[in-house]
Amino acid sequence: MGASICAPNKKKTQVGASWVGNDTENPFDTGLSKKDRTCLRDTFQRLEEPKEIVGLIFLDIVNDIEPDLKKVFGVDRAPRSQMLKMPKFGGHVARFADLLDQLTSMLGYTENLTGAWQLVRKTGRSHVRQQFLEENQNQLNKNYFDIVINIFIHRLIPYLTGEQELPNNNAEGGGEQRKVRFVQNYQPAQVHDVWKRFFQIMIAQMTDSFELERAKQRNAQSQKALAPHQHVEQSERKKKKIQEKQSEIENTASSNEPKEQEQMFEDPF
Ligand code: HEM
Repeated sequence: MGASICAPNKKKTQVGASWVGNDTENPFDTGLSKKDRTCLRDTFQRLEEPKEIVGLIFLDIVNDIEPDLKKVFGVDRAPRSQMLKMPKFGGHVARFADLLDQLTSMLGYTENLTGAWQLVRKTGRSHVRQQFLEENQNQLNKNYFDIVINIFIHRLIPYLTGEQELPNNNAEGGGEQRKVRFVQNYQPAQVHDVWKRFFQIMIAQMTDSFELERAKQRNAQSQKALAPHQHVEQSERKKKKIQEKQSEIENTASSNEPKEQEQMFEDPF
């Protein structure tokens, strides 16, 4: 009881159009400490070319794990070596990497936790526009956000812990420089644990906001489908009411009010 009296004022925050929560429910706040969030940012910054690594992982996803996604990303006719050059696929790789950059910066640098939460939920919602996901997400228990992000848990984290060498690390001159940046100030196990929790929050938030948005849009669609006959009934009722009122006014006017002489004004032209 005491706890509820002493609890700090809960600040209401609008999280996207379809969901309202407050700051104390922000999973990036409740699920990660300040130190964890700094670790996310520091370790992400170790990757000199995050897009390159995200690209390699997405190539495996569409070629080896979920070939159904090839068509979605417009690479069903492209050889593997050309896929990253295709606009939709290459664009998605870039946006995915940018999202990780933005999120880790908001969490570990500017400390805009509300912004990070809103961004992840907005990303989940925006995927309802993708017809493939609108139709297939979580049908037959297949959660595509879960599938994709779990591959990232397995494939991206070893780069972040420093256990796996960055691509092209043996390139002339580059190798030495990259090794210097990988001076360990976090234990690999800690980095692994923090990133896993971060990715799990992403899965949960994207899945939830996607589901809410899809339900909202399907509901709006069925309302639209119902609307035509509802509109006819409504306008008939309105018309009848107006007619009743009109005749009431006319009746009262003709019986109570003295008839006014109609005035004529001179035509100004
Ligand atoms: C667009 C991230 C999964 C298909 C985007 C964008 C981001 C993003 C940031 C651009 C901005 C926006 O629309 O919100 C992610 C993340 C995922 C994910 C973090 C985590 C799993 C998927 C999956 C599909 C997909 C599973 C497969 C159907 C697309 C498509 C676009 C898009 C087709 C539009 C690309 C374009 O037209 O340029 N995604 N995405 N995404 N996403 Fe994803």
